[in-house]
Order: sequence, then structure tokens, then C-alpha cells
Amino acid sequence: MQKTDFLVIGSGIAGLTFALEAAEYGSVTMITKKQDTESSTNYAQGGIAAVLNIKDSFDLHVRDTMSCGAGLCKKRAVMTMVREGPTRITDLQKWGVEFSYYFDEGRKVLALGREGGHTRDRIVHKADYTGREVESTLVRRCEEHPNIRILEHTTAIDLAVDQSADPPRCAGAYILKGDTVELILARITSLSTGGCGRVYLHTTNPSIASGDGLAMAYRAGARVGNLEFMQFHPTALYPVKGQAFLISEAVRGFGGVLRTSDGTAFMAGYHPMSDLAPRDIVARAIDREMKTRGDDFVYLDITGRRSHEVRERFPNIYKHCLSQNIDITKEWIPVVPAAHYMCGGVMTDLMGRTSLPGLYAAGEVACSGVHGANRLASNSLLEALVFSHRAARSACSDLKSVGDPNPPPMIENPSGSSNDEEWVLVSHDLFELRKLMWDYVGIVRSTLRLERARRRVDLIRREVEDLYTRAGFSVGLIELRNIAQVAKLIIISASRRRESRGLHYTTDYPHEDNSRPARDTVLVNRRRRPSGR
Ligand code: FAD
Ligand code: SIN
Repeated sequence: MQKTDFLVIGSGIAGLTFALEAAEYGSVTMITKKQDTESSTNYAQGGIAAVLNIKDSFDLHVRDTMSCGAGLCKKRAVMTMVREGPTRITDLQKWGVEFSYYFDEGRKVLALGREGGHTRDRIVHKADYTGREVESTLVRRCEEHPNIRILEHTTAIDLAVDQSADPPRCAGAYILKGDTVELILARITSLSTGGCGRVYLHTTNPSIASGDGLAMAYRAGARVGNLEFMQFHPTALYPVKGQAFLISEAVRGFGGVLRTSDGTAFMAGYHPMSDLAPRDIVARAIDREMKTRGDDFVYLDITGRRSHEVRERFPNIYKHCLSQNIDITKEWIPVVPAAHYMCGGVMTDLMGRTSLPGLYAAGEVACSGVHGANRLASNSLLEALVFSHRAARSACSDLKSVGDPNPPPMIENPSGSSNDEEWVLVSHDLFELRKLMWDYVGIVRSTLRLERARRRVDLIRREVEDLYTRAGFSVGLIELRNIAQVAKLIIISASRRRESRGLHYTTDYPHEDNSRPARDTVLVNRRRRPSGR
């Protein structure tokens, strides 16, 4: 058993920010599934939304966020995020993050981009690899800090809950490193495990995004909410191979136009903001155009901009597409929607506290209330920065009054193993699960599809749980179990929302239900096991 003041699970923007703040007050152990930089953060392209321009205002950013969120955003949370955004950007710069800029009369000015749903230029970025710049800089700062210990290739299996505390309290996590299962006992645990795009067959998310944090928090009894709101990014490069390659929304902010195969620019027929409409509208429009025409993709056309401008603004996208034999300065880019961002998550208050004492959550795993039914582009990195900073502040002040927790019982790593044939079947299960989520719980849903998905997921879950209780732990099995758990929670949440709102569109209830105030879909695990298994 290891002991630490703060256990941080995950090394994306949320975990790294929390760690850097908390390390001033106590010892931090940060665990991460792969190498420390591997995270969704690392792949972020567009940038971070913040009010940094005199032509912009907090009110406008709040308004754009709320209007995108389709009536479900928590206004206090949105105002907090927007107002604290510029200071958090300054923190990043102090830590050494470099953003793109230009000179105006000899003065260095941050370059601000535009993305869907924004009525002003407010996306601070580093060309089209903002995430890599942020991730690598913050990892460096954490590695240099004497109070932060980073354990790579270390996977949290489940949260440890001290049942002897009243009320029960999160006391750290059970982890798998190599073949060894251990308990890390912590006074405060910060969950920053990112999203769950891997629940779907086609996703922009890296393989770490298997919804582990969400599944662990649910199993431990924390409230989770709004999981029906999976955001599909409209423009992933077609054909999708493995992790879908994103064509940033900033390309449309730079003048990119969506076209059908015959060249028709179709978005003006769907929304007054045309190609820069909120993401749910653009993704549904593309889905509709593809279905009605029987096409496998639509095109994104940025050839209207000068070649050198495109190469300078989007070096990463230009290079990647060229490697696929598409010169984006001369040719249209074939694109399709792909699962991208979970707007719901582990429910938190304004300080990042979850309903389980001792457990904080921030970043994509959390549901702070800012995104509502549809996240505004580039608000994700901003939300992670603002609320992980707040969570760390609150956790540091908690630390004074929190002693060492009692160690919960250790979980056993069963000595059984799966045979090769069984593992092949499990891999089939994973594929089937992700495909059925894509086919039945995707951009357009219906009650019949959700029911069918639920029956099939239940079947797969039973098989997976059976194997989980007898085979030795492996990262693959842990992830599969979590993916199956999260798929089930998404289906339950989608079935409970009997209306269409934001990202949740069902043909059986095609309109918003405005007969009563919009409500969150909240799920709590009433059959929580005492600890671990
Ligand atoms: P992540 O950055 O995903 O980090 C999660 C960490 O948790 C990883 O280190 C992972 O290894 C670790 N982890 C997970 N499970 C476990 C476990 N069981 N045990 C141990 N460790 C675990 N948002 C924007 O605002 N602007 C953008 O321009 C933008 N572009 C994007 C482009 C792409 C391709 C993608 C995929 C997303 C983009 N997003 C963007 C969304 C944004 O990047 C993410 O929402 C954000 O980075 C999430 O940060 P995070 O710290 O919560 O999680
Ligand atoms: C993008 O660059 O299009 C991604 C932005 C985001 O997900 O917020």
C-alpha cells in the first residue's frame, strides 16, 4: 500500500492543473494509463475559448455558451468559467505555454480564432496543435516539481471507499501496474480521467478514453448525469481508421465551407450561422445530407483561402491530409461526424466536489453544468482549467481537516486466466458493443433502437462481468468492463429523456419539451458494493 496526500488519476489538462496547484500544499501522486502525455488534451487542435479581446465581453461568451447548451447550462457555472478564463490563460503562459500571436504596431497580440457557435473571435491557440503545446509544457512543469510523483502505465481499477467513515469517503484507488494490484491510500482523490469516446466505433478520442473515471465513480456511488449528451464532431477525416483524425472546426472559422458531393454548400439551409452553427446542428445536417444522398461523406472546402495562409494556420492538418494524398490547399477534404466529447459526467459543484466526500472531478469526466445539452467549441479545455484550479484550491483547504483514511479491504486479483479463444470472443464483444452504440445510440436515436441496444448491451455486460470475476486483471479487460458500463448508462439516460434537446435527438420525441423546466438526467448506483468488487 502506498500513501499520498493527493491522488490524481489522469495526466491531461485537468489532472496536470490540479497537481501543479495541489503540490504547493502536500504530496501528489499522479497515475496515468500510458505515457504521461497520452491524453485527449494532447490532440486538441482548435484551442481554448476565453474573452481576451476588447470587441468581446463576458456577457457575450456566457450568452453563446448558454445558447449552445439548449436550456440546460447552469448559469452560475458558466459565469464562473467565463470570468475566470482569462486568468487561467495567463497561468498557462506563466507556466511556459506559447500561443500563436501577431504584431500590431510593434505590440505582440494573441491571435484569436473563431469556431462554431461563437459570435466573436475568442479562441486562443497554438496553430492547430494547441493541445500538444499545453500538454507537453504542463507535463514538464509537473516532472520538475519535487512534490509530484508521476506513475506511468498505471491503471486505476476502482475507487477505494472507506466505509468506516460517516458518511463513507473516497480513500484513493486500487491500481494495476504490470500484473500487480495495489491500493494507493489518499486523503483527497482527484478524478481527471477524461472522456469516453471509445464507447463508439468511430471517435476522435485516443484509446485512453474508455470512460474509466465515469464507470468507477458510478460504481463507488457518486452521482453521474446528462450522459445522453455525447457530442459528435462534424468533421473527422474520411475514411476513419482507428482514432479518427480531426479536421478542426477552426478550419470553418477560417472560411471552410461544407459541400455535398455535387458541390452544394448546404449549411445555409440549416441555420443562420451557416457553417459556423453549433456542432449538434452541423453534425445532424451532415448526417441527413449523407443519408438522403446515399453518400459516405461530405466535403469541407478551404480552397478559397490562399495556400500559404492555410499551411501556416493548419500545419498539422495540412501535413496529415497530404500523407493521405489530399492537398487541402487545392482539394476538398472528405469528412464525416465522429463521437468526440461527453458533455455529461460525474456531477460536481462549483468547487469540483462530487457527491462522494473526498472525491473531486474535473475536465471531461466531470459534469460541472457549463455545457448543458451541447458544448460550445473550445469550452472544454477552458472548463478543465477553471474547475480543476478551483477543485485544487478547495481540496487544499480540506486537507487541513482530513486525516489519513482507514485502508479499505484490498481487492483480489483473481488467479484465473482467459484462454485465447475467450479473449478473441471478448474482442468481438468490444467491437459489437462499439458498433451497436454507433448504429443505435448515435446522432439520431429512437425508442426502438435504444431498447434493442439495451438488450444487447445487457447480454455483453453479463459475459464481461463473468470473465472479470474469474480472469486476472488486464488493462484490456478493465477498459472493456468500463466501456460496457458507460454504454449502459448512456442508453439509460437517453431512454429517460423523452424529448429532443441539444445533442440528444430522437425521432419519437422530435421537439424540446418546454412544458416544464429542463432537467438533468441523474443516475446513482444504489447497489454500490462496499469497496472494489
Ligand atoms: P484527458 O486529456 O483525456 O486526460 C485523461 C487522462 O486520464 C489521461 O492521462 C489518461 O491516460 C488518464 N486515464 C484515463 N483512465 C485512467 C485510468 N483508469 N487510470 C489511470 N489513468 C487514466 N477541446 C477544446 O476545448 N478545444 C479543442 O481544440 C479541442 N480539440 C480536441 C481535439 C481532439 C482530437 C479531441 C479528442 C478532443 C478535443 N477537445 C478540445 C476536447 C478536449 O481535448 C478534452 O475534453 C480535454 O482535453 C479533456 O481533458 P482531461 O484532462 O479531462 O482528459
Ligand atoms: C476543434 O478543433 O474542432 C475541436 C474543438 C473542440 O472540440 O472544442
